[in-house]
Amino acid sequence: MSLEEVRRDWTRLGADEPLWAVCVDPDKRGGRWDAEEFLATGEDEVATALGRLEELGIAPAPGRALDFGCGAGRLSNALARRFSSVVGVDISEPMLERAHALDRSGGRIEFVLNTGPDLRMLPDASVDLVYTDLVLQHLPPEAAAAYLREFARVARPGAALVLGVPERERPTFKGLVFRYAPWPLIRFAQRVVLRYPAPMRMHTWTAGRITAELEAGARAAGRPAPRITASDEYWGGDHWRHLKHFAAVPTDAVPSNGEDA
Ligand SMILES: C[S@@+](CC[C@H](N)C(=O)[O-])C[C@H]1O[C@@H](n2cnc3c(N)ncnc32)[C@H](O)[C@@H]1O
Repeated sequence: MSLEEVRRDWTRLGADEPLWAVCVDPDKRGGRWDAEEFLATGEDEVATALGRLEELGIAPAPGRALDFGCGAGRLSNALARRFSSVVGVDISEPMLERAHALDRSGGRIEFVLNTGPDLRMLPDASVDLVYTDLVLQHLPPEAAAAYLREFARVARPGAALVLGVPERERPTFKGLVFRYAPWPLIRFAQRVVLRYPAPMRMHTWTAGRITAELEAGARAAGRPAPRITASDEYWGGDHWRHLKHFAAVPTDAVPSNGEDA
């Protein structure tokens, strides 16, 4: 699967029903997400995650935050209440149109359409927080790996990373279907039985694989590598074990240059 297919699918999902495509809840299908209730879920999530960073002693400076795969801006708005500026990056134009419509930040969020495999619009060491949730699992693994490497490049020393992604399927019927059924069958069920406007793939990531990509990205950019400090289980429905990984870029580390790695 190519990034172009990801763009095509998320453009359809964003054009059809963006809030439901972000927070898939059968009860909210058919335009039943109330915008304020939707944004409130982002506020809760960000408050909890930033509280956890404090608890771990790795809270970042409240400068610039990156919301990768920002969708309709559910998390970007909550981040903008706590950071001086937020850049929300997404691959789907209609998602970003909805994000603009829901922007409550008074101009502190910059929404950027990015259809490329990297984050070249962001300089090295330019963000204090990298936040992504409910995104990496939908990407082809090699594309997600490339963005993880980019996160290590753009995070400054002292920055924190919050990375939400499922670690594995649970042994439920749906979990086992996703684990073992061929993708064309899952796609058919999503499109024809569940009537999704476009399929939603699911991939899982372990902390070890995430760490390996962060380290590779740091090494390639000659930057200190982010270290995962905690991986907490959080909401994710019944069929996947979702983890939120909390990482920090050390301020005192010698940048990786490939020789000392
Ligand atoms: C399930 S939504 C989550 C949105 C947001 N993170 C939230 O939790 O409210 C997934 C989002 O990731 C975006 N996305 C998918 N692939 C992407 C990519 N390669 N780069 C940026 N955004 C991407 C989709 O367009 C969609 O808006």
